[in-house]
Amino acid sequence: MVSITSPLLKWYDAHARELPWRNPPKKSKPSDPAWPYRVWLSEVMLQQTTVEAVKPYFLKFTERWPSVDDLAAASDDEVMAAWAGLGYYSRARNLVKCAREVVALGGFPKGEVQLRELPGLGAYTAAAISAIAFGRRAVVVDANVERVVSRLFNITEPLPKSRKAIREATETITPGARAGDFAQAMMDLGSSICTSKSPRCLLCPIREVCEGQKAGEPERLPVKPAKKAKPERRGTAFWIERDKHVWLVTRRGTGMLGGMRGLPDDGWTAREDGSDKLPLPGDWEELGAVRHTFTHAHLTLSLKRMSAEAEPDGEGVWWPIDQIENAGLPTLFAKAARLALAAD
Ligand code: ADE
Repeated sequence: MVSITSPLLKWYDAHARELPWRNPPKKSKPSDPAWPYRVWLSEVMLQQTTVEAVKPYFLKFTERWPSVDDLAAASDDEVMAAWAGLGYYSRARNLVKCAREVVALGGFPKGEVQLRELPGLGAYTAAAISAIAFGRRAVVVDANVERVVSRLFNITEPLPKSRKAIREATETITPGARAGDFAQAMMDLGSSICTSKSPRCLLCPIREVCEGQKAGEPERLPVKPAKKAKPERRGTAFWIERDKHVWLVTRRGTGMLGGMRGLPDDGWTAREDGSDKLPLPGDWEELGAVRHTFTHAHLTLSLKRMSAEAEPDGEGVWWPIDQIENAGLPTLFAKAARLALAAD
């Protein structure tokens, strides 16, 4: 393969997306001491989440916690609440842990191997941080890069089996210099030109060496396995009111939405179907249901409401209903809260 570095970086210099966590091209190692922190934070947020969804969260987090020391000093609850709505909440739990470990280490390690030992950092994120924050050569493969490389090398074997071949091919084209810009150029190419359904090959800076384009149907690559149907789950959540306050609990453990605040529910996460186990006896009003899709399942969550005299069993807080926006509810429970408020 002819080197793609030069045309790709030339294209990136002219067309790099402006993103709040980025520095302009060619400046991958600025002297700002918070730079590795910003790269790490953005890469964790971008795991399985779109650039558009991440932007406001990145701005909010860096305004509130401008350095890794600031984040390490925050309480778990504050960080979980600030993460609410971004999804994949294990990332938020690991984020605070990771910040504290980094502070204890005296700063972010620069190498992929050491970075991978930190909570929440897998192969992709460790490589991305090493390349983008520290300019080290690292083979950075996310979904965009997988698509670009599958096409560039015409890798027709289906995913996930082709991952090894994709990685090896990416290894052969990764340069030693401007490693962070190269990785981000591949990501930008994947998101703006080498798109899933209708790649814009005529605009592509590396079309002349693209085997997939020469073979004629680049949009077919990478070949993906058939999607499994997501199971349908059902459950019930409870809106318990007293004196303009609603009863909120903090979900236990590290399972689904663990550590996040939410409405009490019937334990749907532990079973295929909820069983309407009521937290208090009394006169419950049916408010309807909300739908939410997680990675592995669709959920229909019914909502029941009651005015309570007594405090429900277990730990919780009475949260002012007119402040519900600030409760740090994950999207599922924010939808349920909207349903309850609309029912008034
Ligand atoms: N997706 C993951 N990391 C990214 C980055 N640094 N720039 C653009 N998209 C990304």
